[in-house]
Amino acid sequence: MEVDGLEKEKKPMTMEYPAMDGDPRSFLESAKPFQRLMTQYRCALEEVRNKFEVLDMELSLNRDGNPIESISCRMKRPASILEKLERKGLAFSIGNIEENIFDVAGIRVVCSFTDDIYQISERMLLQHDIRLLRIKDYIKNPKQNGYRSLHMVVSVPVLFADESKCMPVEIQFRTIAMDFWASIEHKLRYKKNLPGPISAAIADDLESCARIINMTDMRMQEINRRMEALGRSIE
Ligand code: GTP
Ligand code: MG
Repeated sequence: MEVDGLEKEKKPMTMEYPAMDGDPRSFLESAKPFQRLMTQYRCALEEVRNKFEVLDMELSLNRDGNPIESISCRMKRPASILEKLERKGLAFSIGNIEENIFDVAGIRVVCSFTDDIYQISERMLLQHDIRLLRIKDYIKNPKQNGYRSLHMVVSVPVLFADESKCMPVEIQFRTIAMDFWASIEHKLRYKKNLPGPISAAIADDLESCARIINMTDMRMQEINRRMEALGRSIE
């Protein structure tokens, strides 16, 4: 078939997969506890996402615009879970996942300003069913490479018909500026066909970019504070 001047590859009607060792039914049966666990993480993630959406709507009532720019959720892929367990020298089991991996469910909340990050994260922690398990403030204490973000692991209950369970969810809070730097730095770090880790000179440059971006972030924050004060004085 000719499409846009290109000869499209003819695809076979059916895909062929390598034969599976053993009985496929027992394979599917054995995967059920893992699937159930992943569903519980997914439900916890949706619960936390919903809480942020409600907070965003509520906070927008008393100000111009919404404090949250975007929310993105991701579930860790099974291969990444396996890799992380192997890195920790642990076998792949439901118990080991539950006790050692706290970022199976991950959510990123991008805000306009640092003030919003602290306001929203504090409001989230005030909710009666949310428990803080861990916090790393890479905004007050940036990583050596320049990375800035507020990380939290919270526990949220998930109610299934026959079970109620508290599941951990990793939350990353960033400003748009922090997210801009982190997204590009991540892309550069994992660039394919590089002979090895990035050189010291490039690492220095990236760190310097992070500092410049942070200075702009702080200035924008200051402008916003002045605008808010102006708004209050007019009211
Ligand atoms: P992980 O095993 O990677 O989960 O490490 P950790 O448990 O010590 O977690 P930490 O809170 O330091 O970082 C967790 C996540 O934050 C990572 O998976 C990234 O998404 C993000 N992150 C941390 N450091 C960096 C960084 O230097 N650059 C970028 N782009 N992202 C980072
Ligand atoms: Mg992680």
